[in-house]
Amino acid sequence: MSKPVAVVTGAGSGIGLTVATHLHSKGFRVVIAELNPTTGTEAAKKLGHDATFIQVDVASYPSQARLFKQAYEWGGNRLDFFHANAGIDDRQMLYDGMEKEEVDTEGLVKPLNTKSMQVNLEAVIQGLWLFKYYVRRSKEAGGGKGKFVATSSAAGLYFMTQNPQYTASKYGVIGFVRAAGPILVKEGITVNAICPGFIPTGLCPPEILPLWPKEHITPLSTVIKAIEAILADDNLTAETIELSQENIYFRKCVDWVNESQRWIGEESQSIWDLGYQKVPERPTF
Ligand SMILES: NC(=O)c1ccc[n+]([C@@H]2O[C@H](COP(=O)([O-])OP(=O)(O)OC[C@H]3O[C@@H](n4cnc5c(N)ncnc54)[C@H](O)[C@@H]3O)[C@@H](O)[C@H]2O)c1
Repeated sequence: MSKPVAVVTGAGSGIGLTVATHLHSKGFRVVIAELNPTTGTEAAKKLGHDATFIQVDVASYPSQARLFKQAYEWGGNRLDFFHANAGIDDRQMLYDGMEKEEVDTEGLVKPLNTKSMQVNLEAVIQGLWLFKYYVRRSKEAGGGKGKFVATSSAAGLYFMTQNPQYTASKYGVIGFVRAAGPILVKEGITVNAICPGFIPTGLCPPEILPLWPKEHITPLSTVIKAIEAILADDNLTAETIELSQENIYFRKCVDWVNESQRWIGEESQSIWDLGYQKVPERPTF
């Protein structure tokens, strides 16, 4: 039987590189999916056999779709594991002063740069969409079940005033896995999110690294603990796994505020299902 195949985005450094290296050591064939050709090539070279680099810009749907097609073919027509991990911080400050507020030729305020939403959230949603397609077509090669992991953040559970668009994207990832996870597990695809605390990687502004107290660092070994928990259990889905220091925590949704909200959340599903067997028709303008 062929080996299972994993794709990890943002695998040229930091968390992605750690996960890719771990999966490789566990017998996966691994695709280093990375925007940066230098770190991507280097990472695949270091892993050696059963690893390859495919350049991708996950913010572009065609680029990510091409990544999946190439990875599936390279893996012998199977995909088993996808880690939607590539991420960036905010590329424009929401709070910039008036001197940075610009209008276009029509006098309309230019939009805020929301690239972090595209990379951290939109690409994660499209990533699951693409992954599902290829997992369903992996049976003949020995696959057919899948594990999808998205990297959210502690900022997706709490918040980061310095990065509001980033915070929104990471909250979005948690909502997405909670919604999709219970459904896709029925066809053998688990869907989970990890929420790391502070890990010194390429994402952190270099100025802050010397100031950061060691006791508030989460080591990369904690990421591996979370990945191991996901690998070990084919029923673990819709989970939000917070990583802090040496520990992983399975975080639940907020409490129901009253009995009515609990009923809506837990007991009205069959009614909702009736309304959403297909996309509801709406008037178009
Ligand atoms: N480091 C932390 O403290 C921390 C905490 C919480 C969450 N995270 C999240 O972890 C994930 C990984 O970040 P990291 O800390 O390892 O940082 P990192 O900068 O070391 O790694 C991110 C990688 O993603 C790649 N990348 C960026 N944009 C891309 C794109 N459009 N397409 C493909 N690849 C792209 C980068 O080139 C880089 O190699 C991110 O989603 C980040 O938001 C990090």
